[in-house]
Amino acid sequence: MPKAIQIAAFGGPEQMQLVEMPVGAPGPGEIRIRHHACGLNFIDVYQRTGLYPSPLPLTLGMEGAGVVEAVGEGVAHLAPGDRAAYASMPPGSYSEVRVMPAKNVVRLPEGIAFDTGAAMMLKGLTVEYLLKRTRPAEGLEPGDFVLFHAAAGGVGLIACQWAKALGLQLIGTAGGPAKCRLALEHGAAHCIDYSTEDVVARVKAITGGRGVKVVYDSVGKDTWDRSLDCLRPFGLMASFGNASGPVPPFAPGILGPKGSLYVTRQTLFTHIATREATQAMADDLFAVVLSGAVKIRIDQRYPLAEVAHAHRDLEARRTTGSTVLLP
Ligand SMILES: NC(=O)c1ccc[n+]([C@@H]2O[C@H](COP(=O)([O-])OP(=O)(O)OC[C@H]3O[C@@H](n4cnc5c(N)ncnc54)[C@H](OP(=O)(O)O)[C@@H]3O)[C@@H](O)[C@H]2O)c1
Repeated sequence: MPKAIQIAAFGGPEQMQLVEMPVGAPGPGEIRIRHHACGLNFIDVYQRTGLYPSPLPLTLGMEGAGVVEAVGEGVAHLAPGDRAAYASMPPGSYSEVRVMPAKNVVRLPEGIAFDTGAAMMLKGLTVEYLLKRTRPAEGLEPGDFVLFHAAAGGVGLIACQWAKALGLQLIGTAGGPAKCRLALEHGAAHCIDYSTEDVVARVKAITGGRGVKVVYDSVGKDTWDRSLDCLRPFGLMASFGNASGPVPPFAPGILGPKGSLYVTRQTLFTHIATREATQAMADDLFAVVLSGAVKIRIDQRYPLAEVAHAHRDLEARRTTGSTVLLP
């Protein structure tokens, strides 16, 4: 019987149990995929704790790569035997094999290994929509400054490289000098150690007092106020995560005196709502990876059965780059 990681109740890493689960044939619009690797993402933590609630029991995991075993009625873009990868709802990639909607599954180019595919889909598609589709009213031009928090993480290291390829000056933040070095080695123009440095003062100094056009903020509660103060007039606050906890409610009135700022809260799943959009964004991601402009760095690998260890490391900020789980 195939194995998977399930939770029966929301809570800590100890809630994740290795279980045996029967996997049937795909229905209309579905495929069955056998995973070679699956990706670890911070959203898995939000789903495990119940910050993002789902019906229970729940098999976790939003990202994977493997081989298509069977396709259901109406699935024309995939065939049995295809190498494939995805970032997709509903959760379930922490498994040896699963049946899932085909909509967000794409063929994985031959030049990209399975573990790389599993490490890059959710994080890489996120960077694609952030840098290319989440832009300030005044647009983004080569040479412009943006601020990107948690720059040495999975999403962060992809963003550093892709921003550089687009000609943007990405100012990263990270916890500690070693993480800052990593962000700089991957294309960040500057990196601020936000555990010790004054982020607003550093951003103002780097940008000649003006501030940045966009802040990409996935840290949430701990960075929100400082992020707003780093923006130039008409700048865009792009919130896309809550690694330190959710941002508390705020009064829109504060945005006026800070420079008529714009605020958005983005999620990948709006951007990949259709198969066509998913394919277009994936093609864009595959192109930058195959060209070598963006290298996918896998710094941690764990057997799927040791997923609790992986979650503890991610939550304790002990990881850098991407992490994969191996069934
Ligand atoms: N909305 C979307 O579409 C979307 C899609 C993908 C990812 N995300 C978000 O993007 C972020 C990055 O995701 P990822 O999977 O690549 O994770 P990650 O960046 O590899 O790991 C999270 C990082 O956040 C930083 N952090 C700051 N405060 C933290 C705290 N209190 N606890 C734990 N970490 C803290 C840590 O880096 P430092 O030590 O350097 O501070 C940590 O390494 C997450 O918030 C995730 O939810 C959003």
